[in-house]
Amino acid sequence: MSKQYYQELIELLDQSYAPYSGFNVASIIVCKNGDVFKGVNVESAAYPTTICAERNAIHTAVTNGSKKGDVQAVYILARNDTGGLIRAFPCGSCRQVIAEQSGNDAIVYCYNELGEVAEHSIAELLPHAFLGDEL
Ligand code: THU
Repeated sequence: MSKQYYQELIELLDQSYAPYSGFNVASIIVCKNGDVFKGVNVESAAYPTTICAERNAIHTAVTNGSKKGDVQAVYILARNDTGGLIRAFPCGSCRQVIAEQSGNDAIVYCYNELGEVAEHSIAELLPHAFLGDEL
């Protein structure tokens, strides 16, 4: 399990479109049935329309048939504008989507430049998640 997807994330960073921030992010998600989906951040000249790597990966999973609760694990790696690999944790919006699409039990793996992983449950990263049950 150690360094799983690390090399793939490094290669995936090259697909990121981030000309405005210079901050490339790559994410790989694994579903409970073993399916794997990739995503990168895609920025826009109209800045708020930018989409994060994690949500891009999860949206692709949903597009391909993944259902609410199916996401099991989220792997993330970032690269800054000087080319250095760095650890990035998911933003608040991505935490919401990860919580909802995993049934609030995903594990999030954030790599640093050495391939060392910080591992957190989504429940740790987004306590008291709003999962829509009240709607
Ligand atoms: N970004 C992600 O892709 N994922 C995150 O969790 C944090 C931020 C992207 C969005 C934007 O393109 C760039 O990083 C700088 O915020």
